[in-house]
Amino acid sequence: MRNILLTLAFLTMPFLKVYSQDLPVYQDTSKGIEERINDALSRMTLAEKVALCHAQGKFYSNGVPRLGIPGLWMSDGPHGVRAEILWREWRQAGWEIDSCTAFPSLTCLAATWNPEMALKYGTAIGEEAAYRNKQVLLGPGVNIYRTPLNGRNFEYMGEDPYLSSQMCAPYIKGVQKNGVSCCVKHFALNNQEWGRWSINVEVSERALRELYLPAFQSAVKNGGVWSVMGSYNKLRGTHCSHNDYLLNKILKDEWGFDGVVMSDWDATHNFKEAVYNGLDIEMGTSQRPDKGIKWDKFTFNECYLGNDFYNALKNGDVPEEIVNEKARRVLRLIFRTSYSPVRHTGNMDYEGHAAACREIGTEGIVLLQNNKTDDLKHPLLPLSAWLKPEHTIMVVGDNATRMLTLDGGSSELKAQHETSVLEAMQKKFGDNVFHNQGYWPEPSNNNKHDEWLENNAASRTQAVLLARTADLVIFVGGLNKDRFQDCEDSDRKSYDLPYEQAQLIEELAEVNPNIICVIMSGNAVQMDWADKVPAILQAWYLGSETGNALLDVLMGYVNPSGKLPFSIPFKLEDCAAHSFGEIAYPGNGKQVEYKEDILVGYRWHDTRNIPARFAFGHGLSYTTFKYGNAKLRNDGGKWVVSIPVKNTGKLTGKEVAQLYVGKEDSSVPRAKKELKAFQKIELQPGEEKTVTFTIDPQTDLQYYDETTKAWKTESGKYTIYIGSSSTDIRSTVKVSL
Ligand code: BGC
Repeated sequence: MRNILLTLAFLTMPFLKVYSQDLPVYQDTSKGIEERINDALSRMTLAEKVALCHAQGKFYSNGVPRLGIPGLWMSDGPHGVRAEILWREWRQAGWEIDSCTAFPSLTCLAATWNPEMALKYGTAIGEEAAYRNKQVLLGPGVNIYRTPLNGRNFEYMGEDPYLSSQMCAPYIKGVQKNGVSCCVKHFALNNQEWGRWSINVEVSERALRELYLPAFQSAVKNGGVWSVMGSYNKLRGTHCSHNDYLLNKILKDEWGFDGVVMSDWDATHNFKEAVYNGLDIEMGTSQRPDKGIKWDKFTFNECYLGNDFYNALKNGDVPEEIVNEKARRVLRLIFRTSYSPVRHTGNMDYEGHAAACREIGTEGIVLLQNNKTDDLKHPLLPLSAWLKPEHTIMVVGDNATRMLTLDGGSSELKAQHETSVLEAMQKKFGDNVFHNQGYWPEPSNNNKHDEWLENNAASRTQAVLLARTADLVIFVGGLNKDRFQDCEDSDRKSYDLPYEQAQLIEELAEVNPNIICVIMSGNAVQMDWADKVPAILQAWYLGSETGNALLDVLMGYVNPSGKLPFSIPFKLEDCAAHSFGEIAYPGNGKQVEYKEDILVGYRWHDTRNIPARFAFGHGLSYTTFKYGNAKLRNDGGKWVVSIPVKNTGKLTGKEVAQLYVGKEDSSVPRAKKELKAFQKIELQPGEEKTVTFTIDPQTDLQYYDETTKAWKTESGKYTIYIGSSSTDIRSTVKVSL
């Protein structure tokens, strides 16, 4: 049979050759992509070019049907492939074949401090996107975590530009090797949801360059991302989805981005700016207030880059090169994805992807605290060290049973499965586990607040009574995906744990000292109760494998190795964005001013000597690591820093060695220290490894000089700090440049 096929193939080859010689250049895959794009463009009518530049459905934009060039199907992003949405409305289409693996939230991924996990994540989600025939996955989100009130921080990668830069690039590569484009979002400065549609951000050029842009730049330069989404807010007076400075000058000219800029959904507001300021595909427009067209009468050709664009081009009011430039970019994206010669079929490997999801989740969970209890005389965790078959376990709290993959806005998911904490615990411990609600989330529009208060108090009383009877209490709370929690288009109203959880935790801890607090959230929460409980885990949103991943860490099947990608301040006022009055957050309704400038997150805590309850980079293990002395040598102008790290405990574990650099005698204000490198290593008990970092002083120590509008490296003295967190510094080296 094989021979027959081979003979047939051989005999048909001459015909294929003739056939391929007749192919138009744009179809000829032996030709380079730019040549093919130019050829396609030369065959297209003006109307066809314009049709590439705006949506033709909620998540679809056109190809060139006459030429057989397919369009682009898109999907949110960033934690899984979203269920299908109706063509013109935001409701789900009600399909039965559009479920997905829900991956841990991006804050959890960032907390792994492990770029290999990001590659694994991207590869798996990209396979699902390809399988679902999506060409563009709307993610990852890389906006910097500026305030713990931002409702979308869970979709981002924390407060440090270096960490998010390192973590976003492999995610993108993993997705794009499946022939699916990432669309990194939201470019730029979408650091709060409050007023997001129009708020104007005033930020210094230096903070913009040093903090808010690097992750996007890394997405472009290191990740090779094929598309970028402009944000809703304005920068210096102009909406970011059509902001000349951000899109033309920085993204396309400076960084050489050759892909597509698409608007966020409904983020296009002005014809001229849409035409000239770097936007390529207008997505999500659903009305034209300037023309009095409301959403019920709106058709997609009425986008700013639709009929109006066509007419202006036809009349010669807009030069054709403008549409050619946009069309060329859109074609490039199409040729890279839907029209790629390799048909990426992807796969729905639920089992494999669930395994990836579980692994990423366990690596991202952060053990914030693990003290000895009076009762046990040893740390409460891991449970396998002391828990006996006869022990009873109380699992308490709404997040132990809530499906946290639902809601939250555009990152909502229809998960193929989601194992809750309670389910996983019951599977493991059977009847020894009992659940109690403990607290009730209050709906955001509740008009029966007093009634809710009463119910909640009753629930609390009952929970406290039951907690006395258990050998172990596992409290599972935090935020959820409701409005004003971790949710798009709203910010949190306060830093507290909502729904009177703090009170519940304190009362539970009073009657049962063996209590573990598991906080599921994408944001820091106030933890005034922290000293009253022995163990705290920051468990993010873990997706499909929530319960299993958490159980792995609680039991010690996996030794925790996550590190915080943001600081957890004692109180909101300790956070930089909340230290300059309302104008710095949430702004005056029109404008928000980033008055803290470059001192965001740990840069603020460190430099201003305002301790955080849990510092950036903090995260414990069930084993202990001892660092030796760091040594530095100069290798052709590069600084090679090495430090031995030894596992001094009894369990295998992973440690993230973090390298920060500070400059004391700087001529410009600087953060006390900044993260410049990190490495995650695994060590067996007693094992020692030498971690080696290479720093290029010419590029890694730069600050952005506003006067010369250029990056600058100052000579003088620097201190290199190496530690287990941003405050737990184990060794320092002084060096002169
Ligand atoms: C969000 C984007 C999302 C888009 C499509 C917007 O409201 O800001 O992140 O990708 O909707 O759902």
